[in-house]
Order: sequence, then C-alpha cells, then structure tokens
Amino acid sequence: MAIVSHSLSDIALGQLKSQHSNWLVTGCAGFIGSHLVESLLKLGQTVVGMDNLSTGHRANLDEVQSAVSPHEWKNFSFIEADIRDATACREVCRGVDYVLHQAALGSVPRSLADPLTTNAANVDGFLNMLVAARDAGVKRFVYAASSSTYGDHTELPKVEERIGRPLSPYAVTKLVNELYAEVFGRCYGFPSIGLRYFNVFGTRQDPEGAYAAVIPRWTRAMLLGEDVVINGDGETTRDFCFVANVVQANLLAATANSTEAINQVYNVAVNDRTSLNRLFEILRDVLAETNPHVAGLKARYAAFRPADVRDSQADVSKARRLLGYIPTHRLEEGVREAMPWYVARFTSLEPCRG
Ligand SMILES: NC(=O)c1ccc[n+]([C@@H]2O[C@H](COP(=O)([O-])OP(=O)(O)OC[C@H]3O[C@@H](n4cnc5c(N)ncnc54)[C@H](O)[C@@H]3O)[C@@H](O)[C@H]2O)c1
Repeated sequence: MAIVSHSLSDIALGQLKSQHSNWLVTGCAGFIGSHLVESLLKLGQTVVGMDNLSTGHRANLDEVQSAVSPHEWKNFSFIEADIRDATACREVCRGVDYVLHQAALGSVPRSLADPLTTNAANVDGFLNMLVAARDAGVKRFVYAASSSTYGDHTELPKVEERIGRPLSPYAVTKLVNELYAEVFGRCYGFPSIGLRYFNVFGTRQDPEGAYAAVIPRWTRAMLLGEDVVINGDGETTRDFCFVANVVQANLLAATANSTEAINQVYNVAVNDRTSLNRLFEILRDVLAETNPHVAGLKARYAAFRPADVRDSQADVSKARRLLGYIPTHRLEEGVREAMPWYVARFTSLEPCRG
C-alpha cells in the first residue's frame, strides 16, 4: 500500500472547511478523542466534548488548547458527564450534526478483571448514545469499533465480513456495538459507521497504569531504565496504526456521501504486520538517537497474556474503496512523530540505569 503525504483528500478537506458543523466527540479527554477534537477545531468546526475522566485526563485537553489558536479554542466546550447516564447523553446530542463516539473502557485485561464495569460503559453507554443520537436526528454516528471483533478467526489479513468468536469480554462489547448499530440502521434508518481500530498509538496515549498499551508502556520503561517485558515469545504480530490515520478515517466516515458507504464497518490500520520483537527494536533504536542510554537494552520475556490474539493485520481496501482512506503513516514514521512527546514527558524524571 502506498503511503502518501497528505492526510485527507482535498475534496474531503474542502468540504469540511466550507461547511461549519456541530460535532460531538465522546471520550474527548482520552487519547484518540483529544486528537479528533484538535483536528476538528483546526478545521474551523464547533465541537462539544463529553468525558467522565475515568481514563482520560484534563491535561490532554490542555494540550489541545495549546495546539489550536485562541479563536479555534472558543469553538470548544467540555461537558464532564457519563455515557451511562441516558439524560446526559440526550442533552449533549442536542443540536449536533455529527457524533464521533470514542468513550469506552479499553483493554482486554481490564475487561477480564472487571467485565461488569466494561459492559456498563461499552454496551449500556453505547446504547444510550445511539438512542440519544437517533432522537436528536444527527446526520452521522461514527463509532470506535475494534479489531478484537476478529476473535479466534485466524485468516490474515482480516477482512471485515469474516469474524470469529470473541476472546474476551471487551471483544464482546465491541461486537455488540456493531450489532446495535446495524439494527438501528435497519429498524430506524439510522446512519452509522463503525471503525475497527487496530492497535492505535501516538502522543497523549497514557503510559501509566496496569492497562497501558504496549508502545507507551515500553517507551516509558526504556526512558526510565525499567524492564521491558514482552509477553510470550515476541513473535505475536500487530498492525500498529498511528493516530493520524484514525483521525483521517473518522473525518472521512462522517462526511462520506455514498449510500453504499453508510451502515458499514471498516478496518482502520495500515495493512502491515510487525512482531513485538521488531517493535522493541524500532522503539529502542529511535529513542537511542537522542537517548544513548537505551541503545543496549534487552527485553525480558514473560508468559503469554490470556485472551491475546496471536496475529493481526488489516485489509484496508474496503475503507480505501468506499471512504477514500489512505494511511499517511507506517509504524516507524508514527514512532518518530510521537517519541519527542514521550521523551519530554519522562526526561524530567530521573532514570534508574541499574
Ligand atoms: N487505542 C487503541 O488501540 C484502540 C483500539 C481499538 C479500539 N479502541 C477504541 O477507541 C476508543 C478510544 O480509545 P482510546 O485509546 O483513546 O482510550 P482512552 O482511554 O484514552 O479514551 C477513552 C475515553 O473515554 C472516556 N470514558 C470512558 N468511560 C466513559 C463513560 N462511561 N462516560 C464518559 N466517558 C468515558 C475516558 O475517560 C477516556 O477519556 C475506545 O472506544 C476504544 O475501545 C482503541
């Protein structure tokens, strides 16, 4: 797949800039949500953000404020609320043209430890948002689906129409999202698009806590001189997707006009497959260019994680054909863009180089 230097087709960009719309981004204080808010404000849009700050941070919104102009920032309002509260969902959807629904509890291990709370946010909360958006008559409801929906289906690359059985409570919740969205399309003519994200990474992805994703977790450990632990033999593979690709897919999904494109789910990644061993080398080598103390680091190996999928790689031809999606960043390009943010965050802390 060719990687191009522009992130959105000129037509889609022009369409967005020329029409001023009202957007709702749920999960706006999280990693992906905050990037969506930033991009929309830079495109002159008005954005309401909703978040209960359970895994998201006000600091992410502070960074968005620093990244946009004061004039653009005036077009943003933040509502601290929970998607499990149906009344709150109804209120935030009032007057909204487009919903980008990101709020959910991520992480397979979290869902194994606490399936009830994951289900409440990811299924009850999702349904609250769907009903509220339908009743508000929004033009499009774009939601964060997940590659975990492929479950135990071993075919590579993953094609949207062929899924297996879910391997975790988290995967069940994301599959249920797709089923509800499809049924709302069929029963109420409600226009939605689901985006099955594959391992997304980039600035503002939280490196802290037991449920941190692999790239921020390893980057933090490398910079602080802590052990980098690879679960399994390191030959587990993933299609790592830089957050700019995800932003592009969301904007294209919201503005897609063809009826064929609507009420569909799409893979969002690059169509690459990188092993954890190779990921370790890329992170270490990119960081070592500015942080020589990480150059000789070796990983420590531990047991495989339960409910982990062995291999993952997205076929992105459906998103390319129906949405015009063309990923702009492969893994190493995204890593190079994101690393200065992590370095700045952790260089104020004293590394322990034992
Ligand atoms: N990051 C990935 O690799 C990845 C992969 C597949 C799918 N996804 C999905 O993408 C979406 C965004 O993920 P992210 O990586 O930005 O995670 P994140 O944790 O950084 O962001 C999620 C945001 O949702 C908020 N939230 C959670 N429960 C809420 C509730 N009940 N009410 C209101 N807000 C709530 C959190 O506070 C947080 O700000 C999620 O739906 C996630 O399942 C992410």
